[in-house]
Amino acid sequence: MKIDQEQFKTPLFDAMVSLAESRKVSFHTPGHKSGKGISTRFRKFVGPKIFSIDLTTLDEVDSLQKPKGVIKEAQELAAKAYGADRSFFLVNGTTGGNHAMILAACGPRDKVLVARNAHKSVLAGLIFSGAEPIFFSPAVDDNLKLTLNVTYEATIRAIDAHPEAKALFLTSPNYYGICADLERIIPYAHSKGLVVMVDEAHGPHLKFHPQLPMSGVEAGADLVVQSTHKIIGGMTQASMLHAQGPRVDMTTLATVLRFVQSTSPSYILMASLDLARMQMATEGEKLLDKAIKLAAEARSKINRIPGVSCFDKAMVKNPLFSPMGDFDITKLTITVRDLGLSGYQASQILNNKYHIQVEMADPFNVLVIVSIGDRRDDLNRLVDALRDMSKEYHGKPSQSSFIAEVSLPPFGKAGQMTPREAFFRDYRYAPLDESGGLISSEIITVYPPGIPLLVPGEIVTQEVIDYIRKMDRLGATVDGLNASNSTIAVVKQ
Ligand SMILES: Cc1ncc(COP(=O)(O)O)c(C=O)c1O
Repeated sequence: MKIDQEQFKTPLFDAMVSLAESRKVSFHTPGHKSGKGISTRFRKFVGPKIFSIDLTTLDEVDSLQKPKGVIKEAQELAAKAYGADRSFFLVNGTTGGNHAMILAACGPRDKVLVARNAHKSVLAGLIFSGAEPIFFSPAVDDNLKLTLNVTYEATIRAIDAHPEAKALFLTSPNYYGICADLERIIPYAHSKGLVVMVDEAHGPHLKFHPQLPMSGVEAGADLVVQSTHKIIGGMTQASMLHAQGPRVDMTTLATVLRFVQSTSPSYILMASLDLARMQMATEGEKLLDKAIKLAAEARSKINRIPGVSCFDKAMVKNPLFSPMGDFDITKLTITVRDLGLSGYQASQILNNKYHIQVEMADPFNVLVIVSIGDRRDDLNRLVDALRDMSKEYHGKPSQSSFIAEVSLPPFGKAGQMTPREAFFRDYRYAPLDESGGLISSEIITVYPPGIPLLVPGEIVTQEVIDYIRKMDRLGATVDGLNASNSTIAVVKQ
């Protein structure tokens, strides 16, 4: 890949360093005044320098709310690197980006087709905007009890069944690296007049290596948000939103971003976006090449361990699995069911006994993210630990009765109210076990992977109640209920 020399520039970071080194006297925020007022323990641990670039909006370092200097330049470089018309720095993660995309694309009662494998922030965006979601389901793999992504066919059916819809919202890749077929879906959606938004939280690296799936921007999506912090060099909370084409009003988008973002954005987070973009644009292919090779080596070793397996691209693309768009091979979904362990148990053993922390666990699997920060030694440690666990657990009586219990997530039944209407109605707490038939006023998700079981306005079903109970017993985190998972907020009727 030919490197654009301009991409070596880091205008925001350079301006921050130069301002810090100028040692001007500061009578402005932040109150720690370049670290002089920070707690000694904090300064001792992280060192003094970081505080000298914890800046505020000043002429030298521009304003995120109204960029016209180095932030504007840094965002323009990001847009060029990603192939977008405009790119925006986000300091509240992809969460804030999802809010902004929906607010920019959908107003009250606008119908939006939403692939159900959506993050909680998408639902919050729907509550903010008052838009009316029409959900369609992702495919599932019954063998791995894994939620895949939406198929091309299901998406086209949803589009054709709702000619009144204004927008389409997809999440791709999903947590496990499984993509929707954006390349075929987006042109069809555009031909039907839909604005296409893609939550690409797990894909800020895709653009920079030919062996990775096509990115949302390359596939033509109008709005794409990416968690730069999740996969490449952004600091936690640092994300980017990319926009292109004529379907989204850029002024509205910039306005809603001003609404949802802090007026005191962290310059450290924004600098990390400037540098992460530079790093990807100038040496991303080389760095990702290493990550891809490490993941491939580990996958092949893991697949030789008795009782453990790790699916690959061939399986994701196999029509028997359910035909998916593509697969990010840097994700290792390690299935531990045949060790007689749940993913949650395996994750705890890896953490407590082997000091290895995985990204997440689900009933049958643990998910490992391999990135540009990993070394061969790290992956060898994981493989050795899995070998050890295989010796200890494979072929022995199961450690848990979970296998018989695991089922796929059911969803609430569509009701008459939009998420916004239901959310703002009076509510009461009902015992979860007696909530069948009532209208949820909360977003209920089971982590991981956080796909919403209930959305405000949906009717609670017995299947959802049973599923929550089961997943709670298995060790999953249920989000949206009370602390003991015994009551649920429902609309007062
Ligand atoms: C698909 C998806 N979208 C959005 C988010 C939220 O991203 P962030 O943590 O950057 O706010 C996540 C976080 O896990 C996610 O998995």
